[in-house]
Order: sequence, then C-alpha cells, then structure tokens
Amino acid sequence: MENNPAHVAIIMDGNGRWAKARGLPRIRGHQVGADRVEEIMRIAPEYGVRYLTLYAFSKENWQRPKDEVQFLMGLLSDYLDHKLEELNRNNVVFNTIGRISDMPQLIQEKIARNTEATKNNTGLVTTFAFSYSSRLEIADACRRIAREVQAGRLDAESVDEQTIQDRLYTANLPDPDLLIRTSGEMRISNFLLWQISYSELYVTDKCWPEFTREEFEKAVRDFQKRERRFGLTAAPLRKTS
Ligand code: FPP
Repeated sequence: MENNPAHVAIIMDGNGRWAKARGLPRIRGHQVGADRVEEIMRIAPEYGVRYLTLYAFSKENWQRPKDEVQFLMGLLSDYLDHKLEELNRNNVVFNTIGRISDMPQLIQEKIARNTEATKNNTGLVTTFAFSYSSRLEIADACRRIAREVQAGRLDAESVDEQTIQDRLYTANLPDPDLLIRTSGEMRISNFLLWQISYSELYVTDKCWPEFTREEFEKAVRDFQKRERRFGLTAAPLRKTS
C-alpha cells in the first residue's frame, strides 16, 4: 500500500449518541468505545500506521456528571490493568499526553507502570490524551520557555517554532498526517492545535462505537487520495480537452 499515514490522531466522539439511539445508558457507549480502541490499535499497523494518538479524556470532560466521570476512570483503570500483557504481546509502546497529574493517584501509578513496561517495544506508539487541552499544552510550553529565558539558559531572540515544538507534550512524536473525527461534528475541540497545522482531516458520521476496521480502512483510503501540499502551490491543472 502506498502513501500511508504514519501518524493517525483520532477524536473519538459519539459514544453517548450511539447509546442513546439504541435506548442504552451512555456508559454502554463508552464500553463499546473501549472495544473499538482495542480493535483500531490492533489493526492500525496493517495500514502502515506507526503512531496512533487517541483523545480519550479532555480537560473539559471533568465537568461531566460525576457518575459518568467515575465510570470512565473505572473503565480506564481496568483497561490499564488488563491490557498490559496484550500491549507487550503486540509490541505496542504505551504513551500519554495531557495533565496526567489531574488523574486519580491510582491511575497515575498504572500509567507510569504501563509506560515503563512498554518503553522498549518497537511497534505502534499509542498515545492516549488524558485530561488534555491543547491550549493548556501551549501555555505550559510557553511557561517552560519563559523560565529557561529567565534562568539564562535560553536566548529570547532564538525562540522559534522548534523551540515550542520541543516543549509540547508531543515533543517526541511526529505531527499527525491524518486527523479523524467520528460522529459528524466539524470541530477540533482543543485537540493538537499546533500539531495538526498540515494534517489531513477526515470526518465521518459514524459514532465511535461503530468505527470498525471497515471505517478505519475508508479513512486511510481517503487519505491516500489526498494531495498534500504543506502550503506549497497546487500542481498545475491538467487540460481536459
Ligand atoms: C466521546 O463520546 C468519548 C469520550 C468523552 C470518552 C472516550 C472514551 C472511550 C472511547 C472509551 C474509553 C477508552 C479507554 C482507553 C478505555 P461522548 O460521550 O462525548 O459522546 P456524545 O458526544 O455522543 O455525548
């Protein structure tokens, strides 16, 4: 397969709507959503994907009803325990971005354990965004730069794009080639604002619990047809007559 997206980022939306449309509680949507996370992680390397970045919990999501937040934390906690063996079996590197210090203590420990246990794997790098806000990420990077300038370790005049890039949570990741959003909303929702400057966007009406291999494949095929220009001029129009 040619022209594969090396880095795919996904805004996994529509768990609640999927459940509601079936007369199920919202939490059922999150459960089935977790199955899709597993499936996409398993199959993504078959499509040439080397980095997968998933928006699992935003900084704003803390404002959801307490029961739902609690359920999501429980689901995540179980996931971190039960999937570690599979991550290693599949050679996956477990990585996170976001304000991990906002997460419950036990989850922080499990995140640290899984990160450490998979750091020498050489396959798919899966990055989960937890308590993530892109604006906050950029503010955090600015604060670090200001401190370094103040301490005399960095010259203010030398601050450029790379200086910022190197201080984002994603410093060790390439920019996404393809950003997928499920459930139809045409929004970025404070996700990877800096990093998606030249990413191709793909929005599907399917809700996240319906985002199976078939849907993922459609997104990849669509990406393969795109002409990426990175701000350069378009190829000249071909004469039709
Ligand atoms: C968006 O659906 C989804 C979330 C806020 C949570 C994402 C979580 C998962 C996909 C499952 C858990 C993941 C792991 C790693 C175990 P929504 O609730 O905003 O849906 P709605 O917009 O239809 O209400």
